[in-house]
Amino acid sequence: MASGPPRILITGGGGQIGIELAQQFDEANTWALGRSALDVTSGAAMDRALAEIKPTVVIHAAAMTDPEACERDRGAAQRVNVVGAWNVARAVARAGAEMVYLSTSYVFAGDKLGPYREYDEPDPINAYGVSKLGGERAARQALDRLYVVRSGWVYSRWNRGFVARLLGAVDDARELRYVGDQVANPTFAGDLAAAILRLIDTQAYGVHHLVNEGASSWYGWATAVLRAAGREDVTVEEISAEDFPREARLPANSELANEMARAVGITLRPWHDALEEFVRRWVADRG
Ligand SMILES: NC(=O)c1ccc[n+]([C@@H]2O[C@H](COP(=O)([O-])OP(=O)(O)OC[C@H]3O[C@@H](n4cnc5c(N)ncnc54)[C@H](OP(=O)(O)O)[C@@H]3O)[C@@H](O)[C@H]2O)c1
Repeated sequence: MASGPPRILITGGGGQIGIELAQQFDEANTWALGRSALDVTSGAAMDRALAEIKPTVVIHAAAMTDPEACERDRGAAQRVNVVGAWNVARAVARAGAEMVYLSTSYVFAGDKLGPYREYDEPDPINAYGVSKLGGERAARQALDRLYVVRSGWVYSRWNRGFVARLLGAVDDARELRYVGDQVANPTFAGDLAAAILRLIDTQAYGVHHLVNEGASSWYGWATAVLRAAGREDVTVEEISAEDFPREARLPANSELANEMARAVGITLRPWHDALEEFVRRWVADRG
């Protein structure tokens, strides 16, 4: 690999994780390209971008991420999430660079007792999970120097994700209802980005789970957000996934354990701690 600081190209640079990643890296050596600048469904566009930028690492954060949209259009999910990942990996292999592929805890079926580890067998139950697992495998076919980073339930300031939507809805005085029988690790995008930055220094290629420690249900997450915002006056009703039918079936348990990352010295803080800090800042920023 070339000496000097890594040159980082981020696909999906307009998404919440892409934005957060770009903020963690040295600006002079980072290119975060949104869909209009770099559409990953075009192999030729990927080759052109790599020839121009000459990155040493490509972080592939572009994807069709809405499980409902993936369910409705499985063809599009395959094109973007599988063929897109393959295009990126082939271009990276040709350029002699390394790749980080962002994947998801939804590659697992969700029927395990306890957290999933990197070496547990994936068995996705929705079109999003199928396409993201396809992307992992397609990238692996094209490239050895590949980090597959699985995360879950990521939130940030940058989109209308779970935490932002909930804090925005609090004053509508609507009845809030959240599912109590699906669990995962709520993960702050900033912590995920910082962990990825450390991971690409290790050359410990392969599958890594990177989530804030500990798991919660949607209901537990919502009540924790409200508590951190000082809004315990707001009532939340706990419901079952059966009471909230969706086109995309979600796994009951998608808790991950960061076993491999811990083995190379990378740890993330407990989800409660990250969330409390995030909400405190959110509330302070909004006066
Ligand atoms: N959010 C989570 O909870 C979570 C959890 C685990 C893993 N991940 C993975 O992490 C990655 C980033 O997720 P995120 O939360 O940042 O999602 P996001 O906010 O939805 O960002 C994804 C970005 O990809 C872009 N994109 C879609 N199709 C594209 C294409 N053909 N070419 C180039 N860009 C395209 C989207 O652009 P448009 O806005 O124009 O469509 C969007 O800006 C994804 O691979 C996702 O599967 C996310």
